[in-house]
Parts: sequence; C-alpha cells; structure tokens
Amino acid sequence: MKPNQSKPLIISKYFVLSLFFSLPFLLLLSLRPYYHRFSSPPTDIPTPDLKIRPGYTSYEHYIKKQLNKTLDPKLRKIWTTRDWDRKIQVFSRFFDGLKREGLISTESKALCIGARVGQEVEALKKIGVSDSIGMDLVPYPPLVVEGDFHNQPFGNNSFDFEFSNVFDHALYPERFVAEIERTLKPGGICVLHVALSRQTDKYSANDLYSVKPLEALFRSSTVVRVGKIDGFGLDTEIVFRKTANIIQRS
Ligand SMILES: *[C@@H]1O[C@H](CO)[C@@H](O)[C@H](O)[C@H]1NC(C)=O
Ligand SMILES: *[C@@H]1O[C@H](CO)[C@@H](O)[C@H](O)[C@H]1NC(C)=O
Repeated sequence: MKPNQSKPLIISKYFVLSLFFSLPFLLLLSLRPYYHRFSSPPTDIPTPDLKIRPGYTSYEHYIKKQLNKTLDPKLRKIWTTRDWDRKIQVFSRFFDGLKREGLISTESKALCIGARVGQEVEALKKIGVSDSIGMDLVPYPPLVVEGDFHNQPFGNNSFDFEFSNVFDHALYPERFVAEIERTLKPGGICVLHVALSRQTDKYSANDLYSVKPLEALFRSSTVVRVGKIDGFGLDTEIVFRKTANIIQRS
C-alpha cells in the first residue's frame, strides 16, 4: 500500500523540480522577441563607452516607458507654454550657426528626431528652413509626425539634414544611427546633441561616455566636427556628413 501512495508524491516532486529547472529557458524564450526584433541585439556595441541600461524586459516595455514621459500632461503643458519661446530661441541660435557654416540651407529638407512638441522644428522654420518636420512616438500636428526612430517611417535618401538630442533614449543605438544613415541623402548632414559628462534622465536607455561609439556607429559618414555646447543639459555637439554610399553591416 505504502509505495503506491508515495508514487504520485514522487512524480509531483519531479514535476515541480523540472518546472523549476526549465524556468530559465522559458524566460529566455519570452525574451526572444526582444533580441530578435532588429538585426543585432542591443549588446552589439563597439566600445565600452556606450552602455545600454538594464531592466528593459521587452520592446513593448521600453516603448511604454518612453510614452510615459512623452504623454505626461504636466510635462507637455510645460513644453508648449513655459518652455516654448526659450527653447525655440536656443535652437534657433544653434541652427543659425549651422546655416552660416553652410551645413543647412533654406533649401534643405530637414528632420528632427524625437522632437516631442516640435520646438526645434519651429526654430528651423524660423530661420527659413521651411521644409522641416519632426518625428516622435506621439504626433503633434502639424510640426511632429508619428514614428519610431528605430524604424523611421521615411524612404531612403529623404533628407538633407537630421537633428536629434535624444540619442540617449535609443535602446538600439546601432539601429538609431542606421536609420539616420538610410534616410539621409548622400552628402546629408546629421547633428547630434549628447551628454558625455553626466547621466541623463531616468527615461534614458543608454549612457554615452565618449564620442568614439558614435564615430563607430556612423559607418557611412565622416565626422565634420565635434564641439562643446550648452544645450538643455547636453554638452557635446557632433556633426556627421553621410558619404556617397551606405556601407553594409556584416
Ligand atoms: C506614468 O507612470 C506613472 C507611475 O508609474 C503613472 O502614475 C502615470 O499614470 C503614467 N503616465 C502615463 C501618461 O502613462
Ligand atoms: C534602403 O536602404 C537600405 C539600407 O541601406 C537597403 O538595405 C534597402 O535595400 C534600401 N531600400 C530600397 C527600396 O532601396
């Protein structure tokens, strides 16, 4: 009688044990979409000067967190009221400098990546770059259209100029850069404002410690110049020019 009674108990014990040991594999399986969504995983980073923040369990989780900031009613109110004129003034100064250097002109077709409510787009229009548009996860018509910078909703060779100060929000930096190089025309200019000497906000997805990773990621571009700026907590401006041909990633 006794062995018969304990048998189910033994079976259930092994069942629980096997479940326990298969947990890591189940977890790995559930993470698959995250690692396979784009061609290369977020760990494919050329130098230790660029670190992806841990803690994003899925791409959906990442997008949700980004949307949390973009949709925050209090922040949106500030961006469109108190911040509006001041930010446009500062952006206009940056863009006017680039215009005087011949890096952007009134004929340029321009894109601002991660533009939120589009202050930088308004600043470009103000200095005469009328064919300017912004892109963010949440649209803000007529200045900003909806789009994910990991998968830009634009065709190849669309823009003469692209600007972004949200590189730190990229979960897949190589994808962020590849999309810029894809949508820029040959000879087109990309200007990034980044923070090297301090951590950015809690919504950031990566931390950058030098310009070296960017130089490596912009494979189909040359560095025009690197300079210090004082732009809303960002301290470095990097200007790239796309070369004639896209260099395919291996
Ligand atoms: C953002 O997250 C906070 C706390 O996690 C939550 O209370 C708030 O409702 C969220 N806001 C939006 C716009 O999703
Ligand atoms: C667009 O550019 C990408 C990357 O360079 C390339 O793989 C793709 O084939 C191009 N698409 C078209 C329609 O030319």
